[in-house]
Amino acid sequence: MDVFVTGASRGIGRACAVAFAAAGHRVTAVARTTGQLAELAAAHPRITPLVADLAWEVPKGTYDVIVLNAARYAPGGLLGTERDVFGESWEVNVMANHRLTRALLPPLIARGSGHLVVIGSSSTEKMAGHMTAYATTKKCLRALYEGWEEELRGSGVRCTLIAPGATLTSSWEGEAPPPRYLLPEQVAELVTRSVRDGLTGRLTIRG
Ligand SMILES: NC(=O)c1ccc[n+]([C@@H]2O[C@H](COP(=O)([O-])OP(=O)(O)OC[C@H]3O[C@@H](n4cnc5c(N)ncnc54)[C@H](OP(=O)(O)O)[C@@H]3O)[C@@H](O)[C@H]2O)c1
Repeated sequence: MDVFVTGASRGIGRACAVAFAAAGHRVTAVARTTGQLAELAAAHPRITPLVADLAWEVPKGTYDVIVLNAARYAPGGLLGTERDVFGESWEVNVMANHRLTRALLPPLIARGSGHLVVIGSSSTEKMAGHMTAYATTKKCLRALYEGWEEELRGSGVRCTLIAPGATLTSSWEGEAPPPRYLLPEQVAELVTRSVRDGLTGRLTIRG
């Protein structure tokens, strides 16, 4: 299968790319950081790097599995912070995924097969004041996913929303790690299993 993974230079996306490659699939790994992607591709011959800033670029192509994972995590609230991070978080966490589904899903719908996997977040369950910009965009992504799920019903294309709890990745840099956390590989295992076993709907995973 041909698998497209966004945010694959590190963290959960990188672990997903490695897990799909290890299962024998061809993987297109998307991110902005050329060095990290080149290193990943050098270590895994089935992985092809694709350098793109999804805030304004929309890669094209035909894939069997699309994993929408890239996101910007900016800690902080919406009120009283000097820098307003909501707009940039919105572009990557919501608009980029909207543009990607419009660009990449039509071939899957036309042939009546394939799998869309969206990486959500447990932060959509209860709003926390220290990350309102991020959590708001993830809530919007969840709403988009629920719309895609309805639009894809009966099409033959599967879709899954994976909502992890805290996962130890670079997005925690500068913050105290939570007392209980997942490793990126644990989330990647659920992503690959959802595709292999055809698990659909919202799946949660916590440390
Ligand atoms: N870590 C957690 O605790 C946690 C918990 C729940 C859900 N999640 C979700 O899990 C997913 C992955 O999180 P993570 O912690 O693994 O993140 P991460 O370590 O911060 O990595 C984010 C990835 O997204 C890419 N990316 C960011 N902006 C991009 C852009 N404009 N264009 C292209 N690629 C971009 C980054 O690559 P470049 O910088 O090279 O572009 C990187 O590969 C996200 O959807 C996040 O919301 C994470």
